Amino acid sequence: MSHYSTITNHLTRDPRTWVITGVAGFIGSNLLESLLKLDQQVVGLDNFSTGHHHNLEDVRNLVTADQWARFSLVTGDIRDVDTCRQVCANADYVLHQAALGSVPRSIQDPITTNANNISGFLNMLVAARDAGIKRFVYAASSSTYGDHPGLPKVEDRIGRPLSPYAVTKYVNELYADVFARTYGFKAIGLRYFNIFGRRQDPNGAYAAVMPKWFASMLANKPVYINGDGETSRDFCYIDNCVQANILAATADHPDAAGQVYNVAFGERTTLNELFTLIRDRVAHLRPDLTIADPVYRDFRPGDVRHSLADITRARTLLGYEPTHSVRQGLDTTAAWYVASLG
Ligand SMILES: NC(=O)c1ccc[n+]([C@@H]2O[C@H](COP(=O)([O-])OP(=O)(O)OC[C@H]3O[C@@H](n4cnc5c(N)ncnc54)[C@H](O)[C@@H]3O)[C@@H](O)[C@H]2O)c1
Repeated sequence: MSHYSTITNHLTRDPRTWVITGVAGFIGSNLLESLLKLDQQVVGLDNFSTGHHHNLEDVRNLVTADQWARFSLVTGDIRDVDTCRQVCANADYVLHQAALGSVPRSIQDPITTNANNISGFLNMLVAARDAGIKRFVYAASSSTYGDHPGLPKVEDRIGRPLSPYAVTKYVNELYADVFARTYGFKAIGLRYFNIFGRRQDPNGAYAAVMPKWFASMLANKPVYINGDGETSRDFCYIDNCVQANILAATADHPDAAGQVYNVAFGERTTLNELFTLIRDRVAHLRPDLTIADPVYRDFRPGDVRHSLADITRARTLLGYEPTHSVRQGLDTTAAWYVASLG
C-alpha cells in the first residue's frame, strides 16, 4: 500500500475539517471532490472572480448526498479579513488556492493581482494563525524560479521574478517564512508546475495553454503557439497535485513543515510535443474533426523558456509519488474536454 493510501485510509476513519479557498476554481474544485470522497468536512470560500458554480455542480454530481452535505460554501473575498476568520473558525487544515492566476493578467493589472495575491494571502495567514489551524498549505508557483537558468529546478535556487504574478507568489513564501520565525506558525508552500486536468477553464483571455488548445481543436479554430514551440514545461496532472496537498497537510516528518516543495511530475514536454499529444487524443476521440497544424506567433513577455522540477524534496519529506504521467493525465483530460465541450 502506498504512503498516500495509508494517509487517506486514516483520514476516512478519522475525518477532519478542511478550508479550501478558491474552491470553485480548477484546483480548488478538484481538492473538494477528493476530500468529500474521503468523507471529510469542507468549508469552501470563493468570490467567483475566475471560479464557476458549474465546477461545484460537477463535484456535487460525483459524490453521494451524504458527502455533499459535509460541504458548506461561503461566497466571499479573501481581501476581507473577517471573511477569512469566519472560514477558519474550528477548522483543522487550510488549503489556500484563491489567487488571481496568469502572468499576462498581472502584467496588464499588477494592482489587482497584488491585492488578491498578497493582501488576501496575508489575511488568510493571520486568520489561520489566530484560529490555531494545524497546517496551512498554500499554492505557490514555479514562476518563483524566474530567470534562474538551472535545470532541474531545486527549491533553494531561485532567480529574479519575471512578472508581477511571480513577485506575488514569492512574497507569499516570504510571509510564510516570517510567520514561522515570528509566531511559530508553520505553513507549507507548494510550487505548482503547470497543473492540468478536468475543470481547468478553457474560456477567457487568460486561459492556460492546455484548456485553450482543447477548446480550439474541438471548435475547429486555430491553435496558437507562442514562440517556436520549443519552450518546455513540467506539466503535472491534477491528481498528483491533490495528492501533494493532502500529504502536505498531514505529513508528520519533523522537517516537513515550514518548507516549500516543487509539485510536478519531473519530466519536460515542449509545446510542440504537447500539441502532438493533444492532437492525437482529440483525433482518436473525434475522428470527424480535421485538426490543422499550429500557428506560431511571438514569444510572450514574462514567460520562462524551460521548466523542469526536481521533486526529491516532496518525495522524501511528504512521501509524494506522482501517480499520473503527462500521457496518462492527458488521456483522462482529453476524454473530459471532449465530453464537456463537444
Ligand atoms: N493551474 C496551475 O497550473 C497553477 C500553477 C501555479 C500556481 N497556481 C496557483 O494555484 C491556485 C489555484 O489556481 P487554479 O488554476 O485553480 O486557478 P482558478 O482561477 O481556476 O482558481 C482560483 C480560484 O480562486 C478564486 N478567487 C480568486 N480571487 C479570490 C478572492 N480574492 N477571494 C476569494 N476567492 C478568490 C477564483 O474565483 C477561483 O475560483 C492559484 O493560487 C494559482 O496562482 C496554479
